[in-house]
Amino acid sequence: MTSKKIRQKYLDFFKDRGHAIIPSASVMPDNDSSTLFISSGMQPLIPYLLGEKHPAGTSLVNSQKSFRAEDITEVGDNRHITFFEMLGNLSLGGYFKKEQLPWIFEFLTAELGLDIGRLYATVFRGDADIGVDKDKESVEILKNIFKNKGLVAKDLDFSERDGLRGGRIFYYPAGKNWWSRSGVPANMPPGEPGGPDSEIFYDLGADLKKHENSPWAGEPCHVNCDCGRFIEIANSVFMEFKKTASGFEKLKQQNVDFGGGLERITMVAQGVDNIFETDLFSNIINGISRLSGKKYRDNMKEFEIIADHLRAVTFIMGDDKGIAPANTGQGYLVRRLIRRAIRYGRQLGITDDLWTKEIAKTVAHDYQEIYPELGRNINKVIELLKEEEAKFSKTLEQGLKELEKMKPKFISAVGVGSLSAKSGI
Ligand code: ALA
Repeated sequence: MTSKKIRQKYLDFFKDRGHAIIPSASVMPDNDSSTLFISSGMQPLIPYLLGEKHPAGTSLVNSQKSFRAEDITEVGDNRHITFFEMLGNLSLGGYFKKEQLPWIFEFLTAELGLDIGRLYATVFRGDADIGVDKDKESVEILKNIFKNKGLVAKDLDFSERDGLRGGRIFYYPAGKNWWSRSGVPANMPPGEPGGPDSEIFYDLGADLKKHENSPWAGEPCHVNCDCGRFIEIANSVFMEFKKTASGFEKLKQQNVDFGGGLERITMVAQGVDNIFETDLFSNIINGISRLSGKKYRDNMKEFEIIADHLRAVTFIMGDDKGIAPANTGQGYLVRRLIRRAIRYGRQLGITDDLWTKEIAKTVAHDYQEIYPELGRNINKVIELLKEEEAKFSKTLEQGLKELEKMKPKFISAVGVGSLSAKSGI
């Protein structure tokens, strides 16, 4: 099933269940200083989660352009990307757990054909300090979902200490199963909405080799252990609390904030174990191969960093509110992404001048049907990439000349760190 079909199926599935399809908001936040970029689907909708009436009603669905700067250095494994599309459905004081959990399992199994036997769920363990109980209600709903598919789902606590032990539903603390824009309850400022969540993990394969070769080899494998066996594909946040100066109180309404990355969902639906092997990236990866004359299989990390970073900057600069590379703030991140992509391109031996625009054109070609702003703004993106690439080449050439002039003793005293700090990579 193509990613295009998966995105459309998701929107249609929730439309059939009374949701209004709304367009993605800009990836640049509006009146929101909590992050430099929109990093989740709910962010542009905060006023409505707090009680304001949304013109399209109380049930919404969309695919939101999102960017997470904190993942820049994680890119190059099988699952991390900076820019992603967040498939999201929201209930603004309408339906709650007993509708949301069965719907999302139905979407993943009946619509996408995922094997229920490979799905695992997590719920909030509860926290007496903030007065929020263990999420037993979600556990009962989840047990029924599995039971209806012929599976007995055991709920177990402390899998992070004791391992999977044949369980199917696991309790975790706030660090894993509480969601707000600012993370765990302790980090939330007064006025911020948040709540416990229930995540769905996909089992990429029970061959424990993945775990044995990982840095977690000495610890028991569990769904959140990051060894590579399990991948989180869906998150239903039950957003019914608000932080106050003196603790937590219930919001006026019970909300659902669901988010699932299209790239990860596509990865498991297409039966591959790497986001970059999905059809969302195939033209981009082929483009890098053409430019470098190298094979993806032999240079996966370099290909993945280039593909991720140039896709991200095409979306950011190609937004109607897009911004240019700069030395501070949002523009600094754009500059950093472009320069990292160029640096990895050099490692792959790409010698063409001003090559990054070729990848940007591919991104615009692949996505403009869904995000028409990319088609409208591609010429601006191309100009900005050409300028930035020329500037960076000049900086690198100057840096190399300076290095050549230096005596080896001096180089070892200052290191090359100061050079890379200057060049913004
Ligand atoms: N807002 C939730 C998340 O980003 C769904 O995971």
